Amino acid sequence: MILSKSDISKLEQVSLQESLKLIEDLFPRQVVFSSSLGQEDQVITDAIFRNNIPVTVFTIDTGRLFNETYELLDKTIARYKQPVKVYFPDAADVEAFVLQKGINSFYESVDNRKECCHIRKVKPLNRALAGAKVWVTGLRSEQSANRNQMPMIEWDECRQLYKFNPLINWTYAEVLEYLTINNVPYNSLHDKGFISIGCAPCTRAIGHGEDARAGRWWWESSQKECGLHVAVSK
Ligand code: ADX
Ligand code: SF4
Repeated sequence: MILSKSDISKLEQVSLQESLKLIEDLFPRQVVFSSSLGQEDQVITDAIFRNNIPVTVFTIDTGRLFNETYELLDKTIARYKQPVKVYFPDAADVEAFVLQKGINSFYESVDNRKECCHIRKVKPLNRALAGAKVWVTGLRSEQSANRNQMPMIEWDECRQLYKFNPLINWTYAEVLEYLTINNVPYNSLHDKGFISIGCAPCTRAIGHGEDARAGRWWWESSQKECGLHVAVSK
């Protein structure tokens, strides 16, 4: 099924919950949402679960997440009483990488870091997306230069599905407002100076006036992306 211009403009105009319902109507049981359990993702999770929209919610456990993130996963499942599917990296991939390069070798080079992200995030993501026709994400254009040009919905040629970013035009203030008004559970690290949260060894709190993503792979000066949101081969 190919989305028409009018479907796309409808998606762009309606509320978050209506857009999620609409995309599920257009692609029944073929819509999946990847949640990192970050603030944006908790907004989308709340909209899906509270409105009983039959979209599969999943998260990727890289094996290196903060305990606070695992606590939030449990809290979220308990709160909504709905499943969040957890995908893990392939054990043999991780074992080979660790044996050859070292457990924390991502600090040593950008190549090592990208390889670790590929094994621990990108490959499980590809598995989670297999068979789906729509991939929902919590991306916002404000987050980085790379995300600034992203449309709300686009065809991902590499993965052969639509990538739907319903919060693309939301401001950070709007995200926080939604979380507060709806009393949505959030990661306790957000109260300790963390904004964008990924793996524990690769995320730090940010200082006043620092960019929201400055705490991700802070030792690198390269583009701060792990490969989830750039065109990659399987
Ligand atoms: S990342 O590419 O730098 O790691 P970021 O943390 O900003 O991504 O999250 C952007 C979007 O990527 C999230 O809204 C979510 O859809 C997806 N995502 C990131 N990390 C994960 C994860 N561990 N599990 C599932 N989805 C994720
Ligand atoms: Fe590995 Fe760090 Fe990437 Fe996590 S963020 S997958 S620990 S390099």
